[in-house]
Amino acid sequence: MAKRMCAVPEGSGLKPIYGTGAPGFVDMAISAIDRKAATRRRRERFGDITYQNFFGRTCVLPMTPDTAEPAIMNRDKIFANEPAWDFMIGVAFKRGLLLMDGEPHRRHRLLFQQAFSANNLKGYLQRMQPMVERRVENLPTGELRLADEFKAIILDLALEVFLGVRLSRAEADRVNAAFLDCLAGTTALVRRNLPGGAYRRAAKGRAVLEAFFREHLPAKRGRETPDLFSILCHASAEDGDRFTDEQIIDHMIFLLFAAHDTSATALSTMAYHLAKNPEWQRRARAESLSLSAELGYDTLSELRCLDRVLKESLRLNAPVPVLSRAALEDTDLAGYYVPKGTLILIAPDAVHENPAVWHDPTRFDPDRFTEDRAEDRAHRFAWFPFGGGVHKCIGLHFAQLEIKTMMHHLLRHNEWTVPSDYEWKVDPRTLGDPKRGLPARFTPL
Ligand code: HEM
Repeated sequence: MAKRMCAVPEGSGLKPIYGTGAPGFVDMAISAIDRKAATRRRRERFGDITYQNFFGRTCVLPMTPDTAEPAIMNRDKIFANEPAWDFMIGVAFKRGLLLMDGEPHRRHRLLFQQAFSANNLKGYLQRMQPMVERRVENLPTGELRLADEFKAIILDLALEVFLGVRLSRAEADRVNAAFLDCLAGTTALVRRNLPGGAYRRAAKGRAVLEAFFREHLPAKRGRETPDLFSILCHASAEDGDRFTDEQIIDHMIFLLFAAHDTSATALSTMAYHLAKNPEWQRRARAESLSLSAELGYDTLSELRCLDRVLKESLRLNAPVPVLSRAALEDTDLAGYYVPKGTLILIAPDAVHENPAVWHDPTRFDPDRFTEDRAEDRAHRFAWFPFGGGVHKCIGLHFAQLEIKTMMHHLLRHNEWTVPSDYEWKVDPRTLGDPKRGLPARFTPL
């Protein structure tokens, strides 16, 4: 039964938001089995926007570009990140850049940007390239869990490029385990620090990561090295503003989170679609084989077919499943009344598969991003896997560079398939991992 979220102030001219209130058993069951099916069901029932109860909080879910845009752009500064994101991931990733607002966020982001200058990106690519090539060449052939392989490679790349530290396998595994405990806290159903619970494990994991970064900080504060950790230690603004040690630790921990699962999920989604659409795998491989093995920063743009495959994969499965905001005042989203204190959960997938915005939206069709068709340009927020506004992904160029480099080498070395009965489904215990680790069969070229 559709219920009105709350009364709308008389004379405001605003529209009420309808939904189910507490998620009913059917909604929860569908959501756990298939998040996208749950979104489709919501859209069919409620149209542009709906609401739902999420862990005891009223949450509004915009499902069109028009209803998503005001919260993302936040022109009147009515929406805040910290109270919204802290609720979701604060236990392990507090004080990260995404969890900051207003002037402190602006100042930190300016310092942060130095780590993503074109020069620094070129340096990361150069250091990443031989490592990616080696790791791809050494991938096992035959049956493998591709998503697990991607995760391991991305984490090793992060240690190399972000941290610039050589760790023994045991130490890398210890850091990885702490990080995985942090991740488990973000999807915990019981969001309290109870003995034996995922929240408690996440807090402990965070403590291990803090100690790890603190130990390496003095060396990074010394002579500047070309890794992101060191660059952040040396970043300074014109007025002399610099990060404190504690701020660097907070940012590095958040960065591991922001960079890891997102890129790994994007790679898995691409690999899945390329397996299910062999003609696209052939096209992308032909393009990669026509270029040299080693990609330069400027030659990345020649991977035009791969670029469209990446965009389409991000459309069909946005690695950040929701952008979260809290309304600080009574406000509206494109004419729908939203009272103070409401959480706004903007799921890119909900807009990315909206049939009013995209043609045949569930179909894998990378050519929808060609200059001729440009379906993504129908609206500024038709396609936003990297978010928008002041919190737009600061690592988006790095992410594309890393993902394309990996895929380029993968395509040049192997062909792959997934079992014919395997359909992409997110493992509900994770943020975006595919079920069964994406089983695939790899054949060397
Ligand atoms: C395919 C890969 C990636 C996707 C889809 C992605 C997506 C996003 C999205 C949607 C946001 C904004 C969330 C919001 O507004 O609520 C975001 C923020 C952020 N991302 Fe990414 N991301 C990716 C990879 C990366 C990488 C590789 C890095 C670092 C190297 C990174 C660092 C960050 C940071 C630091 C923020 C916070 C920015 C701020 O609040 O100012 N991301 N990302």
